[in-house]
Amino acid sequence: MRTDTGQIVHLADYRPTDFVLERVDLTFELDPTNTKVDARLIFHRREGVDLSAPLVLDGDELALSGLLFDQKDVPASQYDATPESLIIRDLPAEAPFEITITTHINPEANTQLMGLYRTNGIYCTQCEAEGFRRITYFPDRPDVLAPYTITIIGDKAANPVMLSNGNFLGGAGYDEGRAFAAWFDPHPKPSYLFALVAGDLAVVEDTFVTMSEREVTLKIYVEHGNESRTAYAMDALKRSMKWDEERFGREYDLDIFMIVAVSDFNMGAMENKGLNVFNDKYVLADPETATDQDYANIEAIIAHEYFHNWTGNRITCRDWFQLCLKEGLTVYRDHEFSADQRSRPVKRIAEVRHLRSDQFPEDGGPLAHPVRPTTYREINNFYTTTVYQKGSEVTGMIATLLGMDDFKAGMDLYFERHDGQAVTVEDYVKCFEDVSGRDLAQFSLWYSQAGTPLVNVSTEYDQTSATFKLSLEQMVPATPGQPDKQPMHIPLSFALILDNGAIADATSVKGGEVTGDVLHLTDRRQTFTFTGIASRPVLSLNRSFSAPVNIAFTQTPADLAHIARHDTDLFSRWQALTDLAIPNLTKAARDAREGHEVTCDPALIAALLEAAGDDTLEPAFRAQVLALPSEADIGRELGGNNDPEAIHTGRNAVLKLIADAGEDLFKRLFSDMKADSAYSPDAESAGKRALKAAALTYLAYAENSPQRAAEAFGAADNMTELSQALTLLAHRFPEASETTGALASFLTRFDANPLVIDKWFSLQATMPGEDALARVKALIDHPRYNAGNPNRVRALVGMYAFSNPTGFNRRDGEGYRFLAGQILEIDPKNPQLAARILTSMRSWRSLEPTRADQARDALMTIERSPSLSTDVRDIVERMLK
Ligand code: ARG
Ligand code: ZN
Repeated sequence: MRTDTGQIVHLADYRPTDFVLERVDLTFELDPTNTKVDARLIFHRREGVDLSAPLVLDGDELALSGLLFDQKDVPASQYDATPESLIIRDLPAEAPFEITITTHINPEANTQLMGLYRTNGIYCTQCEAEGFRRITYFPDRPDVLAPYTITIIGDKAANPVMLSNGNFLGGAGYDEGRAFAAWFDPHPKPSYLFALVAGDLAVVEDTFVTMSEREVTLKIYVEHGNESRTAYAMDALKRSMKWDEERFGREYDLDIFMIVAVSDFNMGAMENKGLNVFNDKYVLADPETATDQDYANIEAIIAHEYFHNWTGNRITCRDWFQLCLKEGLTVYRDHEFSADQRSRPVKRIAEVRHLRSDQFPEDGGPLAHPVRPTTYREINNFYTTTVYQKGSEVTGMIATLLGMDDFKAGMDLYFERHDGQAVTVEDYVKCFEDVSGRDLAQFSLWYSQAGTPLVNVSTEYDQTSATFKLSLEQMVPATPGQPDKQPMHIPLSFALILDNGAIADATSVKGGEVTGDVLHLTDRRQTFTFTGIASRPVLSLNRSFSAPVNIAFTQTPADLAHIARHDTDLFSRWQALTDLAIPNLTKAARDAREGHEVTCDPALIAALLEAAGDDTLEPAFRAQVLALPSEADIGRELGGNNDPEAIHTGRNAVLKLIADAGEDLFKRLFSDMKADSAYSPDAESAGKRALKAAALTYLAYAENSPQRAAEAFGAADNMTELSQALTLLAHRFPEASETTGALASFLTRFDANPLVIDKWFSLQATMPGEDALARVKALIDHPRYNAGNPNRVRALVGMYAFSNPTGFNRRDGEGYRFLAGQILEIDPKNPQLAARILTSMRSWRSLEPTRADQARDALMTIERSPSLSTDVRDIVERMLK
């Protein structure tokens, strides 16, 4: 492990390299513990660069075993090699020259899963962001682009498959027992997009014919035995390729596109040119082992990585500060894809739930940073929900501000103008300014100002003048390093809903710019005055969540119910019901904390049951309505001094009141939503299952018996319903014999499938209450647990810390101490994983004082450890600051 060096990188320090890389030629002689890498690199000195400037290459835990200049030895006096860098002096003024570097690396010992490593006997690479420098010395930064030729030599029997980027050149026997394969990628790319995979893998093949009628070979590589579980991923890939042609005019550009599923992977997947590497969790699926959510994730991530081929690969980032340029934009594209493939409003609700549960806490806590940060200590810690999800929202707002036609024209210009380049956020924004004529300078604050803006809303209606006044005030909270903020350009979609449910014509307006149904809030305070509004309207604001802001607007339950009934934007109907629920849930938490009886406004219950029982609405939407804000959502609304135990008790009591009032409806839904045919993962069938599961959950509260859930567990013929029933049993009836029996039978049945056992770990890690810790500790010793596999660690330790508010936030602090111990154990093996899981404590300051003190102590234990990785040190110090 590289321990912290404390070096901070600044955006303002960016300058191009002194030497231009022309070509890369790599030869790998594979060996599990001693792989030899020869890197032949052709450079020339950039015009105007001083003769004294040396060539500086990056390394990470490397040892140099050979160095040639134009095929001749380099005298020791001409270079300096350390594990972190190789510096070569006295290089030619203008003429191109060739440097050949030899390194030996140990894939088997590589537990950080960055660079070249082994997973279940397969060689695999992960180079983003700075993994390539663990393979060879290199100008390892995204603005150095070159074509790559790759030769892989390896034991023939052990490596029947040897893959790299680009098109296959050829392969054959090499010498006795060894084979070689050669690949060439003609598209200049940065090193972070390099990939190599080798080993004994099974392959499933298909083809895709592009819009210009080129046939592309599609291959998905998996471990033997998993071939039949790739069908959905392949289908999602073909749909993604088609969609990108139709929606963005983007065509695939190589003869072959490959996906490899591996079981040890630090994140979801990686968009290496022509050779995407995936966490197997996001490739493998069949009805027996994957849930509807798994299918939806696979579809989204396959699309995401494929879409990177244009947004990320053909056009890449100048430096890592520009990460949102490829990630935010590509998330926007995968969201649009899923919205088109499924239900747009239901997808939007899920996105906003995710944004609020993950990004808002990040933006409101010690780890807050702008969508485009200006400094970092460890770039791996900036693959955040802010860069990804808020980054996507920023592109979504550009589309809202410009309208779809100009947005499309701006994207076309971006692809045309910057193809083959490594660019910046400014280059991207400029394309939209150029096509629309709109000045986006103020809008660009979304890239540089951290924090979730708060918009205060007040309204006034005057009957005699038929005038409706809408006053808005925006405030962007202070965040680390940014005490003062400028007002932002906030696009707010709105509707004025009349008594009869119709939407008023609101085109006669003064006080600011309005385009279509979008208000442009640009000042700190702004009043929009609408005339010709014949009766008092109900304002629906931030429809479809047009801007990632918090809205403070006290609307009466009657007005919210009116929106919930009439808005044509389904997202806003869901939002209105959420706004109706929130005060009830926060009050319930306070009442529970003070030992008072918990009550619930009958208007909320009536509105929820009305929406849930409305058969004209799609089931998936009704399931979202019934899901109610989570315990974490309620905690965020309370804002501080939080007692997770009281929030849990209060919320459960509200659920019980809704369940009792709606028992008949829930019984009807539970039987109406039965599948009439075999399992299919399509969105409509998944929506029915989601509504059925919601009904089952409420019935468990109403009936207060494990009976129905146990029957559902016995009757389930797919993983979605099986795991839902099991989760309900474990979370609601932990002591019941039905639960013990179901947990045991699930384990026996899926013992051989680690991805399914992860579900078994997760649902136990998230069982509410103090006892969860003892369970988690026992499961760490379970034979199926593996502290070296990121999926296992995330399923058990990660889920416990991120998704079990009562179990983790024990008043005695044992949960925090346990996590600190785990972080210190994981860190030396896999810093990226340790740092990620540690972010689960980012909202520790919003806890009540007893818990907050315990949390601080645990964080300080980590901070005091002498040998932390840069990753963990960066996170823990920012959290304590
Ligand atoms: N580019 C990948 C994706 O979003 C993620 C890579 C994350 N890498 C890292 N070191 N955290 O598809
Ligand atoms: Zn991505």
